[in-house]
This record gives sequence, C-alpha cells and structure tokens, in this order.
Amino acid sequence: MNTTIDEISDGIYRIGTFVPDAGMSFNQILVTGEEPLLFHTGMRALFPLVSAAVERVLPVEQLRWISFGHVEADESGSMNEWLAAAPSAQVAFGGLGCMVSVNDLADRAPRPLEDGEVLDIGGKRLRYVATPHVPHGWEAGVFYEETTNTLLGGDLFTQMGDGPAISDDSPMEATIAAEDAFGYSSLAPTTVATVTGLAELKPTTLALMHGPAHHGNGGAWLRDLADSYAERTAAVAQGATA
Ligand SMILES: [Fe+2]
Ligand SMILES: [Fe+2]
Repeated sequence: MNTTIDEISDGIYRIGTFVPDAGMSFNQILVTGEEPLLFHTGMRALFPLVSAAVERVLPVEQLRWISFGHVEADESGSMNEWLAAAPSAQVAFGGLGCMVSVNDLADRAPRPLEDGEVLDIGGKRLRYVATPHVPHGWEAGVFYEETTNTLLGGDLFTQMGDGPAISDDSPMEATIAAEDAFGYSSLAPTTVATVTGLAELKPTTLALMHGPAHHGNGGAWLRDLADSYAERTAAVAQGATA
C-alpha cells in the first residue's frame, strides 16, 4: 500500500492510504501548530505507514493531541500506539465518549471536550462540535478549524475508490453511491438538523476520512447532504406506513 501526504489547507495535511480490500481510502488529518494534533488514528495495521508520513512533516514525538470523531478501528484503533510513540500526547475527545469508552480504552487519561469548546493548539483553533449519531455513533463529533475554515468531518461524505487527494468538485454523487452501498449513516430524528447546523459553519475545505479533501462551498455541500438525509428518512417513513 502506498501512503501519500498532501497539504490541504495552510498547515493541515491529509495522509491517505488506499486499502484495496476495502475499496476505499483511509485518511488521517495532521494539524500543525505549537501543539500538533492528529485527527483519527487509522487502524493498528496502518500505524507504520501513517507514522512514517507524519515524520515527513514533524517528529512523531512532538504530537500533543490525538483525536478522532468516534470510537471505531479506523478512527481510534491505533490510539495507544500513538500515545506510546508521543510521550507528551493526550487523547482529546468529546466528554460523553470519554465517559462511555475512552477513559477505559486509552492508556493515559484523555482530555474531555465540551460541545462548542475551542482547542487552541497555537496557530490553529479547533472547535469541537458534538454530532451524536451523525453519521454514526452516540459519541460522534467533528472539528471545525477556525483559521482555515476547514471541517474535519471524519466519515461525513464517505466515498469509495481511489480518488485524488484534493478535489474542487462536489462530493455528493460519490457520497450518495457510498451511502447506497453501505448504509453507514444513522437516520436519526436529529440527523438533518445536525448536518444543517454544520452547514452554517460555511467551511471552504472538507477534510474527510474516506475521499478527497474538497475545496469549495462546503456550506452548500452540507445542505445538499442534509437534503439527501431528509429524502432517505422520508423514504424510510413512507415504507413504514405503506
Ligand atoms: Fe465510522
Ligand atoms: Fe471511517
């Protein structure tokens, strides 16, 4: 497997590995600053590739924060490998997820984040936004990096295939295809409102786990995503009453 690294916003890097067996890329987002942060760790098997990619930007032991959107192998699987490799690093994660899982799973105590709290890493400001069950996981959340208008969206806009690292196109067509294939999103009563709320951040870069980094009108694309969830939810409701 080949791991690439591309700067997608000023000082923010997408580390991408296409995994043929899964038919999709698994990306991690490295946010540089006085206290560098890695957003989603990748699975344990990817750790040698991902840590070598980080080393192309900064020494792994300089990482201060390890974070992820929810608890899952590709999100948090190698969390403890990173904590071992970076002695000053600490997991930063939503308070609910710390209470439910990470207080127990992490080898060092995590730093719990409140919804809306800004993690100032020196040069970058990461606003934590809790997104329960969006796209899945009670403990789910994303980061909005305020200085570059970058949304670290995790599994939002999941796409299949081995695409480019960076795209100026809408992610929606590929996102709908992946949702049709996997059904990975929870169609909770709050899903549409949560995604509509993210659209109000008006990000200009979408940094995704499975797919390119998309530059453009992120607010419009998030409204499109909310609309597609509304259609799916209505279709399910229709089926339930038919
Ligand atoms: Fe996930
Ligand atoms: Fe994922």
